[in-house]
Amino acid sequence: MSHSPVHRAGNRPARVELREGQTYTWCACGRSANQPWCDGSHQGTGIDPVVFVAERDDTVFLCLCKSTGSPPLCDGTHNKACKPDKPD
Ligand code: FES
Repeated sequence: MSHSPVHRAGNRPARVELREGQTYTWCACGRSANQPWCDGSHQGTGIDPVVFVAERDDTVFLCLCKSTGSPPLCDGTHNKACKPDKPD
């Protein structure tokens, strides 16, 4: 099954407060109007949101560029995602 392209929802991560034991649904497709959370806009894209349970109360940075290698957390990829490729 082919996937629709992932949309970049922001150029920096979203700082959010998580509550221990609460379930969260992170938007992976970039189409949600309620970033960084899923609003169901991924329907038909072939891209599923990331559902996770907070292990403790914590402040985290969730990816908005949707290019992170460790979803849902920002891994710094947003810093290089917009830079042009270096010539060979
Ligand atoms: S916002 Fe995507 S890696 Fe930082």
